Amino acid sequence: MAGFPLILLLVNAFTGNLTANPIEYITHQTGTYALALLMITLGVTPLRRLTGWNSIVRVRRMLGLFTFFYATLHLLAWAVLDQFFAFGFMVEDIIERPFITAGMATYLLLLPLAITSNTKMIQRLGRRWTSLHRLIYLAAGIAILHFWWLVKADIREPRLWAIALSVLLGVRIFWFLQNRLSSRS
Ligand code: HEM
Repeated sequence: MAGFPLILLLVNAFTGNLTANPIEYITHQTGTYALALLMITLGVTPLRRLTGWNSIVRVRRMLGLFTFFYATLHLLAWAVLDQFFAFGFMVEDIIERPFITAGMATYLLLLPLAITSNTKMIQRLGRRWTSLHRLIYLAAGIAILHFWWLVKADIREPRLWAIALSVLLGVRIFWFLQNRLSSRS
């Protein structure tokens, strides 16, 4: 399911349908898929708690890994197609353009989450794993900031993502506070 966008991208590439600006198209597509998958991953736990659909948790890890996969394709599209792997220019771009700084920060936050998403690491890290994986909210926030800073004038799309993230975060905070109160009484 999460691999479908990649298949679509490849079909478009082989049929010459990558628009007049293929680099921009690939960067936009992979960035959008990465952000959408990140938000869907964040939606799994609230959906499970609200519906009692417990087996959905099994797809969470796969969704998280697909998020990282598309983020990596997105990073590669920028590094190879846009910057021609010129390390000096890449560093300059990261320092000089705040939206690129935010994109890189998001990627660096997703990296430890992807590395520690296997069963062995989950067992090894124990409770620290849960704390570490809370970084996903920060990653989503900075990813939206990355998008927001990029669009400049038309903020409708990043604003929608920001509202969705606020709802997801709000639900989690509400449950946390509810738990705290009920454990005290
Ligand atoms: C790894 C470092 C990253 C770099 C260097 C980077 C770079 C870029 C660039 C160059 C663009 C297109 C800018 C333009 O149209 O002029 C873009 C767009 C975007 N990126 Fe990133 N990005 C990074 C990480 C991420 C991550 C981790 C996410 C999401 C999880 C993300 C989500 C997006 C989104 C949603 C867009 C806008 C797509 C659209 O135009 O509709 N980026 N990024």
